[in-house]
Amino acid sequence: MTGFDVDLPRIFAHRGASAVAPENTLPAFEAAAAMGARAVEFDVSLLGDGTAVIHHDGNFARCTNREGALAEASRADLATLDAGAWFADAFRGAVVPELSAALDCLETLGLAANLEIKLHGADPARFADTVAEALAARPTLAARTVVSSFDHVALEALARVSPDQPLAALWSLPPSDWHARMMDMGASALHTNWRKLTPATLEEAVETQIPVRVYTCNDPAELAPFRPLLSAVITDDPRVFFGDPDWAEWAT
Ligand code: G3P
Ligand code: MG
Repeated sequence: MTGFDVDLPRIFAHRGASAVAPENTLPAFEAAAAMGARAVEFDVSLLGDGTAVIHHDGNFARCTNREGALAEASRADLATLDAGAWFADAFRGAVVPELSAALDCLETLGLAANLEIKLHGADPARFADTVAEALAARPTLAARTVVSSFDHVALEALARVSPDQPLAALWSLPPSDWHARMMDMGASALHTNWRKLTPATLEEAVETQIPVRVYTCNDPAELAPFRPLLSAVITDDPRVFFGDPDWAEWAT
């Protein structure tokens, strides 16, 4: 196991502030900072030529003006993509950011991060090397970044090349042996779907002092029963938590 977990903010803007700006774009990061968020979650995928970009899906269709698999695209194609107009006309011209541009933006905004690796069939070692290199160039941000993935093989590869980087195992529904598997892959936190939380998982996390961060909740009232046992929430709209006095402590 990595041996430590970072002291991160407790409210993460999911894909940036994706309730008010197109997901996984620099305007979504800027919107998160503008509403007072101190951390964002975002998804990283590789193009066919190995360029790391901020994008959730393995195809551009849902969140840009073009169709096509990321695996068949290269860096030159990014100039042809509009990642904002699908969301609202005001965001026309937003780009699919390269990882380097996204990390530069986070540094400028002073945000902490949850970088989620989306493997989409890419080579895990190549992906891990790319992420490790980008974070190594930005040590202050790297220390305030937790890298997560459903693709645990990518986390294992990252743990090998960057053993001090905090990692979080992602499961929609953690298996019964989640803790042992987390330890094996070198992760120090559990990221999971709050709708599938079980008392058993939470009790084991508390006993073993594993931070639990949950996605994606946009209604603080629904999450209230779990609040004492959670480390952080990933939400499309941090404003709903900032505006709720029960969560005031989380906003600091
Ligand atoms: O990292 C938490 C959450 O983003 C995982 O699910 O599909 O929104 O990337 P997804
Ligand atoms: Mg994600």
